[in-house]
Order: sequence, then structure tokens, then C-alpha cells
Amino acid sequence: KRLIFIGPPGSGKGTQSPIVKDEYCLCHLSTGDMLRAAVASKTPLGLKAKEAMDKGALVTDELVVGIIDEAMNKPKCQKGFILDGFPRTVAQAEKLDEMLKKRGTGIDKVLNFAIDDSVLEERITGRWIHPSSGRSYHTKFAPPKTPGVDDITGEPLIQRKDDNAEVLRSRLAAFHSQTEPVIDYYAKKSVLTNIKAEKPPKEVTSEVQKALS
Ligand code: AP5
Ligand code: ZN
Repeated sequence: KRLIFIGPPGSGKGTQSPIVKDEYCLCHLSTGDMLRAAVASKTPLGLKAKEAMDKGALVTDELVVGIIDEAMNKPKCQKGFILDGFPRTVAQAEKLDEMLKKRGTGIDKVLNFAIDDSVLEERITGRWIHPSSGRSYHTKFAPPKTPGVDDITGEPLIQRKDDNAEVLRSRLAAFHSQTEPVIDYYAKKSVLTNIKAEKPPKEVTSEVQKALS
């Protein structure tokens, strides 16, 4: 399967992706996770992306299109993939179409994680992540077994630099102005399914599974 998960910050894309990935043996390509890894290891790509990410703006189309094009060549992505957080502009969606056409494939389904803005601040400010795996927790909705510690590795959890109320406002503004048109782009291609993303995590998982079956 070749899938796209679209939704605002905190809508649950990163929470649902690992579940679907395991079920269908897909690779999970999160541009946000890949960019954060590049920032942490101070690669040229990371240095270019950092400023925009810290203030909650999008990085350039060129940067993320390059990352995705390269990642799609990996052997583990040949069976299929979940794109989490990409494409986020219509220009990125058009580039993606070109990339897939070149490979003789296309997108099977786009899931739109629909949710009201008002619930996102609580989700974002309570999130803690395990940086090397991308696993995320929430102090109230998905607490780790031991506070501040990853369940699987026992390593410490951190908060993302952009996970505060102020930067969230910019991320939401970017979503509404630049990413919402991408939802229409896929609706017109009849590959879009809406997911009620404000439900509890397990119910969202069932909706996602129903949409993909
Ligand atoms: P990115 O990392 O993609 O951030 P985002 O889109 O803001 O999305 P989030 O990761 O915040 O949300 P999520 O939907 O994954 O939420 P999660 O499941 O973790 O991008 C970061 C930055 O990188 C961008 O701002 C931009 O600068 C740059 N970037 C990335 N891609 C780009 C692109 N294509 N073009 C340009 N720039 C790009 O859930 C959040 C919290 O809620 C967690 O704590 C979780 O436990 C909890 N939770 C999840 N589901 C539920 C539920 N159903 N009920 C209750 N709590 C829940
Ligand atoms: Zn995410």
C-alpha cells in the first residue's frame, strides 16, 4: 500500500503510523522525524531546516522533496509506505505525483485526520517523545510506564522544541493556509477518506483500519 496521512499538528499521524506500518509491513516516512534527526546531527540539511522548524514555518519544498525522493529508493520502502507529514503544499503533491509516475506507481489512499483546532494545544503541550525511535507519549492520554522514560529502551524522553502554545499557533496557520489545499487536491482525485481524529486513540485506530481494509 502507498498511503498518505494528512492532518494538523497533534492530530495523531505519528501515533497511528507505527500501527499501520506493522500491520501491512510498510515503511513509515515522517518528514518531521527525518528533519529533526538532521537538525540533531547538524547535517547541512539540518542546518538549513532548523530556523523554519523552530518558528513553526514550513521548510522549503525543495528540501523535503529531496528527502522523500531519496527515502523512497530504500529497499524497505518497495513494498509500500506511509507518508506522514508530506506532502504539505500543493507543489509538494505535484512533485510526488511525478516521482511516483517515474516509478510506475501512484497513491492508493490519503487519510485526512480531521480534528478541531481547540483540542490540539493540550495534545501538543503534553507530548513527550523518544527521539531515536520517534515513539511518542502523552502525560495524560498515553503516559509511559515510568514518567519521563521510554517503555522499550528505558532511555529518557524529551519535549520537542516546537511543542509549545506559541509555536503551535504558527504551525496551525501554516496548516490552514498551505496544507488544507492539499486535502482538496486529493479529494478531487477520489482517494481521500476522512478520519474522526478527536476520538480516543484506539477508536481512531479502528477507523483507520476500516478505511484501509
Ligand atoms: P511534523 O513533525 O510533521 O509535525 P506536525 O505536522 O506539526 O505534526 P505532529 O508531529 O505535531 O502531530 P502528529 O499528528 O504526528 O501527532 P502525534 O500522533 O504525535 O513537522 C515538524 C516541522 O517540520 C514542521 O513544522 C515543518 O517546519 C517541518 N516539516 C515537516 N514536514 C514538512 C513538509 N512536508 N514540508 C515543509 N516542512 C515540513 O500526537 C500528538 C500527541 O497527542 C501525542 O502526545 C499523542 O500521544 C497524543 N495523541 C495522539 N492521538 C491521540 C488521541 N486520539 N487522543 C488523545 N491523545 C492523542
Ligand atoms: Zn508527527
